[in-house]
Amino acid sequence: MGDIAWHRKDLLSIYDLESEEISLILDTAEEFKKVSERNVKKVPALRGKTVVNFFVEPSTRTRMSFELAEHRLSADIVNIAADSSSLRKGETLLDTVRNIEALQIDLIVIRHSAPGAPMLIAKNISCGVLNAGDGAHAHPTQALLDLFTIREKKGRLRGLKVTIIGDILHSRVARSNIWGLLKLGAEVTLAGPSTLVPRDFEKIGVRVCHDLRSAIEDADVVNLLRIQHERQRAGFFPSVNEYARFFGLNETTEKYLKPDALVMHPGPINRGVELASTVADGPRSVILEQVTNGLAVRMAVLFLVAGCMNK
Ligand code: CP
Repeated sequence: MGDIAWHRKDLLSIYDLESEEISLILDTAEEFKKVSERNVKKVPALRGKTVVNFFVEPSTRTRMSFELAEHRLSADIVNIAADSSSLRKGETLLDTVRNIEALQIDLIVIRHSAPGAPMLIAKNISCGVLNAGDGAHAHPTQALLDLFTIREKKGRLRGLKVTIIGDILHSRVARSNIWGLLKLGAEVTLAGPSTLVPRDFEKIGVRVCHDLRSAIEDADVVNLLRIQHERQRAGFFPSVNEYARFFGLNETTEKYLKPDALVMHPGPINRGVELASTVADGPRSVILEQVTNGLAVRMAVLFLVAGCMNK
């Protein structure tokens, strides 16, 4: 599973990682994907370890695949729902996680609406912390499963042209993808209305484009982001229909794509807004393969982080 050693007790953001560490996670995930294709899908790698899944924001894909990954690795699992936790009674996040730590837990998987919440926790407790998405800041495992899917389908990342379309300004998925893609040598284009994709992003070495055709016609991969309706209410674009007309991928705009371009989306999809059903369910779409690969990637990061804690 690669020559470089993993030495982090936490996985907090892609920005923190060296390219070799990202490749180690992807190589490790490749091995775990084979495990999930066997008749017996369970391995004892995390036997004796206890993992708490603490989702303070809604999630379907991330939460399910972390939990399934923990089962496949034979961990003991506790799920905490924010609504039924003592956060509702005013307990601070740090008090809650210090109580979790007092129960000799090994790893916490946390999703939180506050950017930086996983970092705050990681600094204050000895358990390993895995960021399952914090506000608009980072969603490292989503980026890792996206990188894994592109590498699996295209055989490489270096030199590939990847276009991310949508609300880049408020997207943790976009931020994490941008850092991962740049670190592994891909060329990144960001597309969308100028209110959601400001030119300032060019300073980090990406192309910014406000015209859909020009953004996608030479792309090897197009990653669509969910358009959040509250952005329209805040005046970032005039209407959802307008957004769909200028930046949606549909039967008409799909014709600009190269025949072998991949269409990706982290989910949940707003069908008919950023992505028409014919494209989401069409031959270029790898959206459900992203979900499948999320399991392998989350098994890999749990395995690496837990292994580091044994040292
Ligand atoms: N992609 C993603 O994070 O989906 P969930 O919100 O369902 O976890």
